[in-house]
Amino acid sequence: MTDLTGLRAIVTGGASGIGLATARLLAARGAGVAVFDLNPSDVPPPLLGLKADVTDDVSVRAAVGDAVEQLGGLDILVNNAGIGAIGTIEDNPDEQWHQVL
Ligand SMILES: NC(=O)c1ccc[n+]([C@@H]2O[C@H](COP(=O)([O-])OP(=O)(O)OC[C@H]3O[C@@H](n4cnc5c(N)ncnc54)[C@H](O)[C@@H]3O)[C@@H](O)[C@H]2O)c1
Repeated sequence: MTDLTGLRAIVTGGASGIGLATARLLAARGAGVAVFDLNPSDVPPPLLGLKADVTDDVSVRAAVGDAVEQLGGLDILVNNAGIGAIGTIEDNPDEQWHQVL
């Protein structure tokens, strides 16, 4: 198992699903991990939950600053948060595709 002791990571969309599993794995291997999410209140320790919306630059910059300060630096980014859409390019409104992109 790769030892990540001393490394610092951010996982976006890490309060549930694949992101939470990834954050837990990184922490189990010794990394300090900050989780960015719209609702980070249930993120379990030792994960550091920070509120951030990845579609909002101001929010992300603030959260990165908090993470770097609290973790002491940054080595790893898992850019997991994403938005999916079901349907065709013809059927779905442009706003939805802009949101996905
Ligand atoms: N689960 C699958 O089968 C699958 C397949 C292909 C791709 N993906 C992609 O993998 C990623 C994770 O999928 P999942 O199934 O674990 O999803 P999930 O819905 O379980 O978790 C997504 C997390 O991202 C957070 N989130 C959503 N929008 C956000 C935003 N704007 N800013 C910050 N956080 C936000 C949510 O609050 C949630 O905690 C997504 O990008 C998804 O599109 C998933």
